[in-house]
Amino acid sequence: MLKVEGLTKHFGGTKALNGVSLEVEKQEIVGIIGPNGSGKSTLLHNITGLYLPDKGNIWFEGTDITNLPIDKRARLGIGRTFQNLRLFKLLTVWENLLVPAIQLKKPKKEMEEQAAELLELVKLSHLKNEQAQNLSIGQQRLLEFIRAMMLDSKIVFLDEPTAGFHPNMIQTFIDTLQELNRRGKTFVIIEHNIPAIMEISTRLVAIAAGEVLMSGDPHSVHSNPEVVEAYLG
Ligand SMILES: Nc1ncnc2c1ncn2[C@@H]1O[C@H](COP(=O)(O)OP(=O)(O)OP(=O)(O)O)[C@@H](O)[C@H]1O
Ligand SMILES: [Mg+2]
Repeated sequence: MLKVEGLTKHFGGTKALNGVSLEVEKQEIVGIIGPNGSGKSTLLHNITGLYLPDKGNIWFEGTDITNLPIDKRARLGIGRTFQNLRLFKLLTVWENLLVPAIQLKKPKKEMEEQAAELLELVKLSHLKNEQAQNLSIGQQRLLEFIRAMMLDSKIVFLDEPTAGFHPNMIQTFIDTLQELNRRGKTFVIIEHNIPAIMEISTRLVAIAAGEVLMSGDPHSVHSNPEVVEAYLG
């Protein structure tokens, strides 16, 4: 579904990505782990179109999207959330869900049903009319997650979706994600919460210093000495 080959990105003297290659199959849940500053968010920005790479190529469903603008990638079915949330803080939860989806020109009733169902899944229905800024950080993350799902993307990239969660929200997030995955969605998730990412991912990719260290079964990747070493620095 997605293929990344030899992706390289510099910021001045910093080599944030150094020849990253990666493939994602339809309906996988790929977890990405790696120390702070190892290039995880930069990889996501390059795939979703916020940044253009210095070198390398990205294909999505057979189309070369390496240099496509962000909105064209979104229209092909690539969605995302941000590590630092980007909600409309003064709008209500309900408005946050419907405003970005308006551009899809779906019938209003269909959009409203979808929004109501997603709110139910993440257990935020009771906050429907609350301003986004009044939600806890964890609730805001859940809202940004389901807002991304309103756009009917085929693959959704989540950058630290559980950061700031109250512990009892983790299971709600995992259940929602797995339900959407059963319905056909593909996910790539950057996480520092190791127990959560071990539970959700069907495959784990470890990144360090802008390079892929290892990709495979979550338990073998997580216990690999090279990966442990990279984490402990
Ligand atoms: N816009 C930018 N301008 C300059 N340097 C940047 C920029 N974005 C990232 N970097 C640098 O690139 C490297 C990789 O950063 P990146 O944000 O991708 O790491 P990360 O793995 O997502 O880290 P974290 O786990 O802390 O979110 C870091 O050294 C960072 O300082
Ligand atoms: Mg990051």
